[in-house]
Amino acid sequence: MIQLSHITKSFRSGRGQVKALSDISLSVDIGRFAAIEGVSGSGKSTLLYCIGGLEKPDRGEVRCFGTIIHRLTPSKLSLFQRRHLGFIFQRGNLLSYLTVAENIGMPLTLNGIVGKVRDKRIEALLSDIDLKSATNALPHELSGGETQRVSVARAIAHRPRLLLADEPTANLDTSTGRRVVQLMRDLAKDHGCTIIMATHDKEITDTAEPVIGLKDGQLIREEK
Ligand SMILES: Nc1ncnc2c1ncn2[C@@H]1O[C@H](COP(=O)(O)OP(=O)(O)OP(=O)(O)O)[C@@H](O)[C@H]1O
Ligand SMILES: [Mg+2]
Repeated sequence: MIQLSHITKSFRSGRGQVKALSDISLSVDIGRFAAIEGVSGSGKSTLLYCIGGLEKPDRGEVRCFGTIIHRLTPSKLSLFQRRHLGFIFQRGNLLSYLTVAENIGMPLTLNGIVGKVRDKRIEALLSDIDLKSATNALPHELSGGETQRVSVARAIAHRPRLLLADEPTANLDTSTGRRVVQLMRDLAKDHGCTIIMATHDKEITDTAEPVIGLKDGQLIREEK
């Protein structure tokens, strides 16, 4: 289970103090497909970052599969993230000097998955995202939607226990978006992966459970 209790996070920036998250408590059971919704600036990305240990909350704790991640040492946290987490960033962050296939294979290499198993898995993922033709392309040669599809493949390549996805369908047309979401759902079904996705897509929130509603950093709704 993913459990958040009393998560609070503020940023001090050029705009002064911004309270991005206020006292968020919620839980997501293993194997669920959860959605986070809310307008721009409501705290969706910050919440995902806190859940994945990429941001440290000012107060409160996040428990992922029994581990309080903010109590891990930096090296243990890296290991935990490398093994158990897949992250699809809102702005995409493929490594510009690696090809599409190398980007997808990176989490496999980091987890010691090498040789034929690695090659086969990359090939299957490339066909899942319909980008076999781009195997040796570099990220700057891809469209926005193609970049997003590669980011999805890379996030699920090592079959993480928790997939955190930040508006992964935002740059995709409806049918490609559906395919990408189906790919994630298949992963959830086949490997018991839990998914938490920030999204504005009503088609996704309609079938997600729970739906976590945020407004100005506050939890306004949690539908099971
Ligand atoms: N690193 C940061 N430094 C300063 N302020 C930040 C930082 N990250 C987020 N914020 C602020 O925290 C608030 C929540 O931001 P967040 O990115 O979580 O919103 P969001 O719901 O993901 O928005 P969007 O839909 O536009 O992606 C915003 O007011 C934002 O400006
Ligand atoms: Mg965001």
